[in-house]
Amino acid sequence: MTFLAGHYDLLRGLHIIAVIAWMAGLLYLPRLYVYHTRAARGSELDTTFQEMESKLLRIIMVPAMAAAWLFGLLLIGANTGLRGGDWSWLLQPWMLTKLVLVVVMSGWHGFLSSSQKQFAAGTNKRSEKFWRMSNEGPFIVAIVIVLAATTQFLSR
Ligand code: HEM
Repeated sequence: MTFLAGHYDLLRGLHIIAVIAWMAGLLYLPRLYVYHTRAARGSELDTTFQEMESKLLRIIMVPAMAAAWLFGLLLIGANTGLRGGDWSWLLQPWMLTKLVLVVVMSGWHGFLSSSQKQFAAGTNKRSEKFWRMSNEGPFIVAIVIVLAATTQFLSR
């Protein structure tokens, strides 16, 4: 843990970079779904959207989510190292809130990924309005996560 503690700021920077890339994908992919609902099955527009969606997931979102988790977990180790091996900070309200919400965010990522397979198979049943409305939720969750991490609910 001392090695991690010694690289706390580097890990925090890498964590935030990964989070930015992951959030960009989580906010952009449903926008593609909004317009993909208008494309006729098998049309050029349909195949173009399929390619864009699968590349966004495979090349950006999955690696970014993995990196956000990896550096987040290493930060847990670093932070515990800085507190002399005391893990009890993980039970502070801000960190518990954050951990619950990042699990929710990862679940949303999984839902978007299974929806991509439905679009590719031509079996998406959700409407343009559903994809337009559902896009606001993750952004609100991201706001709460960032404020939890930066203000620590004023317990810093
Ligand atoms: C994926 C699982 C995640 C884990 C395990 C995790 C864990 C952590 C930990 C342990 C810290 C250091 C906290 C401290 O020492 O003060 C941190 C910092 C941070 N996290 Fe995460 N995090 C995750 C995802 C996210 C997400 C999804 C966001 C944004 C939407 C986010 C935003 C931040 C920010 C902005 C900081 C820096 C806070 C500061 O230093 O002021 N994290 N994260």
